[in-house]
Amino acid sequence: MKETILSGMRPTGKLHLGNLEGALKQWVSLQDKYRCFWMIADWHALTTGYEKASEIKENVLEVALDFLSAGLDPEKSAIFRQSDVKEHAELHLLFSMITPTPWLIRNPTVKEQARDMGLISGEEEEMVKINYGLLGYPVLQAADILIYKASFVPVGKDQLSHLEITREIARRFNYLYKPIFPEPQPIIGEYPLILGIDGRKMSKSYDNCIFLSDSPEEIRRKVANMFTDPRRIYRSDPGHPEECPVFHFHQIYNSENAPQIKVDCKTAQIGCVDCKRLCAEALVKSLEPIRERRSKLEASPSLLFDILREGARKAREVASATMEEVREAIGAW
Ligand code: TRP
Ligand code: SF4
Repeated sequence: MKETILSGMRPTGKLHLGNLEGALKQWVSLQDKYRCFWMIADWHALTTGYEKASEIKENVLEVALDFLSAGLDPEKSAIFRQSDVKEHAELHLLFSMITPTPWLIRNPTVKEQARDMGLISGEEEEMVKINYGLLGYPVLQAADILIYKASFVPVGKDQLSHLEITREIARRFNYLYKPIFPEPQPIIGEYPLILGIDGRKMSKSYDNCIFLSDSPEEIRRKVANMFTDPRRIYRSDPGHPEECPVFHFHQIYNSENAPQIKVDCKTAQIGCVDCKRLCAEALVKSLEPIRERRSKLEASPSLLFDILREGARKAREVASATMEEVREAIGAW
């Protein structure tokens, strides 16, 4: 029997190269060795985006398309939307009964989120001002993970504090009622930090992203507008590729030619316009398989809904069996 993995993303919009390199490529590679659940966390999106709730529906489909075009395979994995498996909500409720509030109040990731939203100024005491749902974010996340008894959770470093709470909740449940939950471990990959077209970290909030769904024309246009080595003013100036986000892309998406480009840049044998053109073509080529899968999916719109429905069915099968066990362990019914 394969061990189980679950991970998820909040549907806050289109996914970009940072998501691809930092998460999706790893997820794709885990699909053969593990029983995988890939979740679109629409309820979690509400904890911060409740005022823009009507965007979530569209974003779910966007993220589902991105998941599938990046290579997540519905034949191998369950790909589903959180709210399609209502059992998560029941387990979240039951977990909330045994989760001490201080575990949540000191959670640094929720605190940072609350600070970003302008809800608090950073003091722990102020956490009482935030919505109940946001405070309980890690409790819902614990339910997401434990309802599948996942052993591993591939996540970024910012999620480690949530996973710690997941383990604490599992231990507490196992101790209070019956030992039915594993203590899930993170899988943290080593990834290159992906820079955006302005040289800062690629992030939606900086508006500097190349999206998986960008057309070749959009990619070419974005790369043509990229920042380069600020010290290279004239074509005849020698460049400093280490300080250039275009070169950063060459290293990842054009690794074969990157050493030569480095030399040519340093010796001013290549100009930035040509260098960017090469970069854009390499990027367009690397993303070709993703684009191909996307256009197949877009050609038959009902396919996406069928995949999500089937993913939810597979997930629900496991989730409902766990809930039977949970109710029995608690013994109140
Ligand atoms: N909190 C995660 C994020 O913002 C999304 C998420 C929700 C998740 N439930 C999860 C990730 C369970 C891993 C496991 O990225
Ligand atoms: Fe950057 Fe290429 Fe210009 Fe060098 S030649 S500064 S690597 S864009």
